[in-house]
Amino acid sequence: MSNYHIKHLEEYFQVYRKSVRNPEVFWEEIAEEHFMWRKKWDAVLNWDFKKPEVTWFQGAQLNITENCIDRHLQTRGDKTAIVFEPNDPKEKALHISYKELYERVNKFANVLKSQGIKKGDRVCIYLPMIPELAVALLACARIGAIHSVVFAGFSSTALATRINDSDCKMVITSDGSYRGAKTIDLKSIVDEGLESCSCVETVLVVKRIHNSIQMKEGRDKWLQPLLDEAYGECAPEIMNAEDPLFILYTSGSTGMPKGMVHTTAGYMVYTAYTFKNVFQYKEEDVYWCTADIGWITGHSYIVYGPLANGATTVISEGVPNYPDWGRFWEIVEKHKITQFYTAPTAIRALAKENLSYVEKYDLSSLKVLGTVGEPINEEAWHWYNDNIGKKKSPIVDTWWQTETGGIMITPIPFSTPTKPTYATLPFPGIQPALMDENGQEIHGNQVDGRLCIKFPWPSMARTIWGNHQRYKETYFSAFENMYFTGDGALRDEVGYYRITGRVDDVIIVSGHNLGTAPIEDAINEHPAVAESAIVGFPHDIKGNALYGYVILKETGESRDHDNVRKEINQIITEHIGPIAKLDKIQFTSGLPKTRSGKIMRRILRKIASNETENLGDTSTLLNPEVVQEIMDNVL
Ligand code: WTA
Repeated sequence: MSNYHIKHLEEYFQVYRKSVRNPEVFWEEIAEEHFMWRKKWDAVLNWDFKKPEVTWFQGAQLNITENCIDRHLQTRGDKTAIVFEPNDPKEKALHISYKELYERVNKFANVLKSQGIKKGDRVCIYLPMIPELAVALLACARIGAIHSVVFAGFSSTALATRINDSDCKMVITSDGSYRGAKTIDLKSIVDEGLESCSCVETVLVVKRIHNSIQMKEGRDKWLQPLLDEAYGECAPEIMNAEDPLFILYTSGSTGMPKGMVHTTAGYMVYTAYTFKNVFQYKEEDVYWCTADIGWITGHSYIVYGPLANGATTVISEGVPNYPDWGRFWEIVEKHKITQFYTAPTAIRALAKENLSYVEKYDLSSLKVLGTVGEPINEEAWHWYNDNIGKKKSPIVDTWWQTETGGIMITPIPFSTPTKPTYATLPFPGIQPALMDENGQEIHGNQVDGRLCIKFPWPSMARTIWGNHQRYKETYFSAFENMYFTGDGALRDEVGYYRITGRVDDVIIVSGHNLGTAPIEDAINEHPAVAESAIVGFPHDIKGNALYGYVILKETGESRDHDNVRKEINQIITEHIGPIAKLDKIQFTSGLPKTRSGKIMRRILRKIASNETENLGDTSTLLNPEVVQEIMDNVL
């Protein structure tokens, strides 16, 4: 018997020990007892981090939508699978039962088929947070098409890059989206992007805001009339355990985003098992994660993990401050939310507002609170604990990544004693290691180092789409026989982990991963810019904000600097999206460089963060004099 549901600390340790001593037996029991298979596996695990190659449940056959929908129909057919809470509180919320979800997914799957989509084809989904977004993911999975969701805040250029990288045949979008009091014309962003994509044959358009939009003859089709004609049953495609389920892009330290590939069986088993335990989900609970399905958090913990457990999961379309800053708590009261999972950046923004927005609502339904995406500072943790959890609901600070597919280091609520700013202990099956700069593992407690994982886990990304070499170099080359996370961490006196932040060229702004390279590439497109470097600096709400150092050409020097600043942010918005805009732009005559020509971002980061007492040795720089100039003119 597997310990599917961990209920106290001793049990956690017992389960953890078992998961490490005999990982294959451990995962096999869970897979066997809690999922529906068309055929069982030949081997639980094969792995070789040197290649790197990892497979879980090789030889097994299944369809993840049978696990997320079909098997619940008997016992939970009328139970609500998805609650949709619209942007505008005056619009009625929608309750979609498992039966209704079954019908929606099957019809949508038949529409995809009628448009020529087959197993293995890539489908790009660029939608706001509406039920059709979740249904589109599941419809792809039903027929074995690989979905690639692009967050609907990305620009047309960023969208086109992602569509082309994975050769998507179809785009699913909408006539627009609501965002607080504003609307966004998503369809024209898609139209613009598609000017540089020749792979896309069909665009399916969901009607959401009733905007009048351009429909390109032969390419663009309204979804609803196709659904109206579609049959409500679509036999699930039988997938192999290691068939790709989806691609999701994440930023890296070079310009090109990395299309992380997740496969079917391992991803399903891990997201379902983590969901159950990290949120201590019980049958009657109503779970709400405020992330966007455009990010991994939404894939794993709005759609697949909850539905695989037959849970009720909330999809909310709006923003935390519309119509006012009480919106989150209004939703908690209205739907009697039991588990609430959000980002530290949202907590910090909410904590700045008057407490009356919180006090107006009854939050007594809450049992477990969660955070994800970036380190949570102590002040925000306490605000969340005191005012939202009323010191009764444990906070799970969950550390994980797009690459890991599921939660890796986290407290188990009601089992693991929490500690502010600590993600605490590894989830069963996860074997973390801290490494020093010489590639040696650092043993013992009260130490810090680079965070690696020593052993495979079922939901790890298997490759980067079209570029296995980059996968190897990014994750398996820094330390021998280890997966390198790119994060730094410390381990305290009792073995709790605290994530200290990225040690590479990725900056986390409001919980979004941004690589320095694509932003610098965008800035350098400005005709007056000669060179640029960006770094992160601490920001009250966003955690980090972006600081740009820019060298202007002569043509730029003579211009009004504030106008150039605006133009730079405009270009960034066009290339990546508004999330990557710079908060501060300092013009400088040079950038500190090593003798091999590499920009010393460490120095720039310290100056931008006002930590100039200890800049380290600058004498080895190619141009040490520029450091003083930059310090004198810091913004
Ligand atoms: C950071 C999000 C501290 C970390 C699921 C990681 C965190 C990156 C935490 C992945 C946390 C995520 N505490 N830092 N609880 N959770 N991070 O791919 O730097 O969007 O490497 O996945 O976010 O971000 P991603």
